[in-house]
Amino acid sequence: MNPRFSRNRDLLSRSLRSVWHPCTQMKHHEQMPLIPISRGDGVWLYDFDGNRYLDAVSSWWVNLFGHANPRINAAVADQLGRLEHVILAGFTHEPVVQLSERLSALTGLSHCFYGSDGASAVEIALKMSFHYWKNSGRPEKTGFVSLKNGYHGETLGALSVTDVPLFRDTYAALLRQSTQLPSPDWRNAHPGETAEDVALRAAGELEKYLAAQHGQTAALIVEPLVQAAGTMAMYHASFLREARTLCNRYGVHLIADEIAVGFGRTGNFLACEQAGIRPDFVCLSKGITGGYLPLSVTMTSDDIYRAFYDDEMARGFLHSHSYSGNALACRAALAVLDIFEQDDVIAANRAKSAQISARCQKIARHASVRQFRNTGMIWAFEVATDDPLFPRKFYGAALDRGLLLRPLGNTVYFMPPYIIEEDHMDMLVAGTCAILDSMELSDSDHAVPGPGRA
Ligand SMILES: Cc1ncc(COP(=O)(O)O)c(C=O)c1O
Repeated sequence: MNPRFSRNRDLLSRSLRSVWHPCTQMKHHEQMPLIPISRGDGVWLYDFDGNRYLDAVSSWWVNLFGHANPRINAAVADQLGRLEHVILAGFTHEPVVQLSERLSALTGLSHCFYGSDGASAVEIALKMSFHYWKNSGRPEKTGFVSLKNGYHGETLGALSVTDVPLFRDTYAALLRQSTQLPSPDWRNAHPGETAEDVALRAAGELEKYLAAQHGQTAALIVEPLVQAAGTMAMYHASFLREARTLCNRYGVHLIADEIAVGFGRTGNFLACEQAGIRPDFVCLSKGITGGYLPLSVTMTSDDIYRAFYDDEMARGFLHSHSYSGNALACRAALAVLDIFEQDDVIAANRAKSAQISARCQKIARHASVRQFRNTGMIWAFEVATDDPLFPRKFYGAALDRGLLLRPLGNTVYFMPPYIIEEDHMDMLVAGTCAILDSMELSDSDHAVPGPGRA
């Protein structure tokens, strides 16, 4: 037993007996202990022995304004005394109406359909797109196209448009056929190509596909600017601009899965804003409640909404989740939007992003670091090593230094809460450099410079 957890043995063994933890080979916990958390405060998570961990991955990218945020706490506590939940079919309530109005004003998409987590938002977008074409007399438009290395969640529909082999391959026989086209990831640059060249090359492949297949294609689904679970692949906004133009030209919906990148993560409220485009569907979740409660929303336009508006029941969108539009979750989301407005978070993040990037120069220059990259409040780099155990070793070494970092393969990334302060940034960067120094890593390859992001 790791001495770090001496006072937590009881909780650890009970958890291992009764909780099946997500995205985990449970046997690995024979070597790698679970971390029992007693409380959170700002960027910090505390275990029962007083050890603390800087939550540099925002607890799977959900926590925007820190743990136990007083403003979100107050809003949820107030809502608890009024209404915790009500069936959203046939009933409505103030928080869900206010949230829908405010999200519509922010995105330009007028209708909000609520789910509980990211994957359900994706399922809803895929079903709505298909059903729109059916209601519009085009039932043959049933196909979906997505990008190689994309991730859209792990329920069967969402996994069908996901291209991360670790999550997909085992279940391939259960999945619906869909098409994955080349990713605009700038790491795919040929010698001499810029990030924009890679984006335009990928758009060219999309054009060829849509020219031939648009008659059978309902929608293209993409993660705008950053393919997050696909090792934080970053790409130039030109791809999104071209994708919008092509989807318009060929009558195919554009679904923007902003589950990881929405709510300011890439430097704008929506990542699509950087391309100046409006998708037909936007999926939001994760940061929507600041990491407090499960909530997701699929937003779409009045045009699409009107194709379902009819006397006939079956032309309506008969999809439901029991906790759809949960009042507590919507109230947490309203508190998150208040913080965005009151603290001018988008502008504040630009300054923080620059501060972190300046510190990260030390990491970018490290002998074992390749392809250092940044978009908004996301930083990532590859570590040159052949060690298949690298992600677990790095994760453990980070915990020993009070950092919660979970590499994706050889990709180390930071996605900190927006309330991160300068002393936390110093600790994060110094700790990361110390781990890189302490691990036996190859520094023989020449650094592969990625094309500069315009
Ligand atoms: C882009 C994207 N889409 C969908 C999902 C699925 O969200 P959830 O895990 O809440 O189902 C994720 C989760 O990481 C994601 O990053």
